[in-house]
Formats: sequence, structure tokens, C-alpha cells
Amino acid sequence: MGNVTVIGAQWGDEGKGKVIDWLADRADIVVRFQGGNNAGHTIVVGNSTYKFALLPSGVVQGKLSIIGNGVVVDPWALLEEIERVRAQGLTINPQVLVLADNACLVLPLHRDLDSAREARAGAGRIGTTGRGIGPAYEDKVGRRAIRFCDLGDEAALKAKIERLLAHHEPLRRGLDLPEVTAEALLALLREVAPKVAPYAQPAWRVLGAAIGAGRRVLFEGAQATMLDVDHGTYPYVTSSNTVAGQAAAGAGVGPAAGGYVLGIVKAYATRVGEGPFPSELTDETGERLGQRGNEFGTNTGRKRRCGWFDSVLVRQSVAISGIQGIVLTKLDVLDGFETLKICTGYRVGDRTLDYLPAGLSEQAAVQPIYEEMEGWTHATRGVRSWRELPAAAVNYVRKIEALIGAQVAVVSTSPERDDIIMIRDPFGK
Ligand code: IMP
Repeated sequence: MGNVTVIGAQWGDEGKGKVIDWLADRADIVVRFQGGNNAGHTIVVGNSTYKFALLPSGVVQGKLSIIGNGVVVDPWALLEEIERVRAQGLTINPQVLVLADNACLVLPLHRDLDSAREARAGAGRIGTTGRGIGPAYEDKVGRRAIRFCDLGDEAALKAKIERLLAHHEPLRRGLDLPEVTAEALLALLREVAPKVAPYAQPAWRVLGAAIGAGRRVLFEGAQATMLDVDHGTYPYVTSSNTVAGQAAAGAGVGPAAGGYVLGIVKAYATRVGEGPFPSELTDETGERLGQRGNEFGTNTGRKRRCGWFDSVLVRQSVAISGIQGIVLTKLDVLDGFETLKICTGYRVGDRTLDYLPAGLSEQAAVQPIYEEMEGWTHATRGVRSWRELPAAAVNYVRKIEALIGAQVAVVSTSPERDDIIMIRDPFGK
């Protein structure tokens, strides 16, 4: 059977980690294709909780895990993460982990720039994770980034560092950041290079050969469609393309290799950081969703903003990413709400819209149009069969399907790996 691409269909934190872990069981290879250690995937297996930022979730099951060229990689963060999960008993070696040798590095100067800019932006701040992701992608597109393949080539590396610093020095001076010398950066890179070198390979070749041999691949998206640098709520977005189409470019395979596109959708809506959020609830109901859903960032610990399910946005994600089926997560968080609301359209002045417009002011001006639905009192937490769901929960799921124009393939009813209701196996087995 074919491959699967998993992406978030809202603003991230939809529960991709659990779904990816569950799907990794059926895959031979797991590939990350964008983002960096701004991502946070939590996987709960029995009594162990794993928190990943850079490592593909396939490492939990010892599956070949590839960090593709589309990812920006902080080598120090990667090594720390490897040590942390090794201490939890996972095996990480070059047989399990492959790092694209053409992936770009996130350096300390990227983190400095990210934080310094955010600190000065006042009300205009993006609310980034502070991990240097945006500045690292800027350098990649600006053709001055350091890549893993550069680390072993001392002469080229020196020239690249100089070129990079020629760009960063004026920026740093303007932001009152201390000078970084070429020698200091070179010394840092010399020190880290041998530690990451064993993992660095032409990942596209490894992947291409595996696909040619009929191996099954899971492409693991980070962040989500509404944080996509082109299609999201720009500029309140991350700095990479997060849509399904990026899986091919960020891994080095053809577009058909992505296979079945599975969108991960939370049964309500959350967002971290700044930016438009039409169905946000700043009242007690929002608090209650946040408490019940434990809506705090995996890696940053930040409190997430919460709101009702927005079918307009998810329908947009379905279109932009070609989502063929969804996993509906955290349905159990809605247990006990007397009534639920679903946003079905937007009002702007006397107009109604069935999509989120691109302009920032228009995005900020849209007012949600809600349809109210009956809630359920029975607990759905841990339910593993469709028949056990209360009728009102079934109605809620069916309503979402109809509104977003994609089928629910799986419903997830707790953080535990096996607490799912499978309606259609994404791998088709
Ligand atoms: P950056 O990716 O750190 O530049 O942050 C840009 C925006 O993306 C901010 O609103 C972050 O909160 C958001 N963001 C980045 N990574 C994630 C994630 O994994 N989950 C949810 N939001 C994220």
C-alpha cells in the first residue's frame, strides 16, 4: 500500500504526535520535512512520555527516521534530544537516524536574533517559540546558511562563516547584541561537527532507494496549515511551508510519493502565539477547554488560546493541502459541555464569507457565525468503538465531516496510543 503524509489542519498542537506514533507502527520509515525544534510532539506509551522537537516520532519504535532537507536543524538541540531519549531507553544510531546532509543549521545567532526582534516588536511581536527558526530560514533562502555538508569542509566552512557574519554583524549591532567572531563560531562548529557527522547522508537517496524497494513511508508534518508561510495567517505564521505539498520538496522525493494526505484536526480550536483567531473564547468556556485539554505547549510550556471548532478554516486546510481524510483528536475534552458551537462562516460588516481572507485587517475583522449543537454527558474518554459513542458525539463528528468536506478516518479519545476509533485505515491495511 502507499505512503501517508500527516499534517496539522489548524494552528498546530492537534495531537499529531500520538497519531504519528500510531501510524509509525504500520510504516517502515518516518520522515520530517519542514520546521525545526519549534515543533513539539508528545507521545505517551504505557508509563513513558516522550517529547520530541526534532527527532521523527518513528524513533520510538526503532523505525528508520529521516530528518529531511526541508528541516532547519539546531545541532546542539538535536544532540540534547538524542541524549534525553536515549536515557529513556530508546536506541538512536545512524541505522535508525538519518540527517539530510543538505539541511541547514540553526545557530546560536539565529536564536539571538529571534529573541531580540521579538523583544523589540512590542505589540507587533509574532509570539515565536524563540528557537531561531525564522532567522535560520531567512539565511537559507538568502543563500548564506551553513549546511551539514559544509561542516567537514574547513576551507568552505570558513568562507561561509564570513559570508554569514557579514550579514549578521550589522543586524546584531543594530539590536545591541554582542559581536560574534568568525573564530568563535568556527570553534563551536568544529566541536559539534564530529558528533552529528555519523548521521549526515544524502537523505533523498536513502529515501528514494527505500521507496523503490516498496518500503512504506510516513511523512511527518510539524506545525500546521494555518501557520504555513504562504497560506497561513501571515505574518503570524512559522517560516516554512507546512502544507502537504512540502513533504516532497522537504524530503527530496516526487510529489506522488506523499500518498494519502491525512489531516489532524482537534475537536475544538487552539493557537499559541499572536495572530487572528476568529472563534477564540476569552471567557470561562475557553478556560474550561484549556484546563480539560491541558492546553500548554509541549516544549515551551506556553498557555494556548482556546476556542470553538472553526469549520471554515479546516475546510480551507482541506483544500490547500488536499486532505483526504482526518483524524479527529481530543473529542473527550468536550465531554460534559451542555452545548457546543461550530463556526460555519464569517460575517464582515453586512457580508458573509465562507473562507478566511488573506489580508490581516480583514482576518482581524471577521466575526464567527455559529451553529449550536447539543453536547453529551457520557464520557467518551478511552472509547474504542463507534457504537460506544453517545449519539450527540456522533452527530458532532458527522457535522464536522459534512462542513469540512473530508471524511473522518480515525477518532482519538485520549492521549494513550490505543485509544482510537478506526473508521478507515490511512495505510489501507
Ligand atoms: P516560530 O515557528 O518559532 O517562528 O513561531 C511562529 C509561530 O508559529 C508562533 O505563533 C508559534 O507559536 C507558532 N508555532 C511554531 N511551532 C509551533 C508548534 O509546533 N505548534 C504550535 N504552534 C507553533
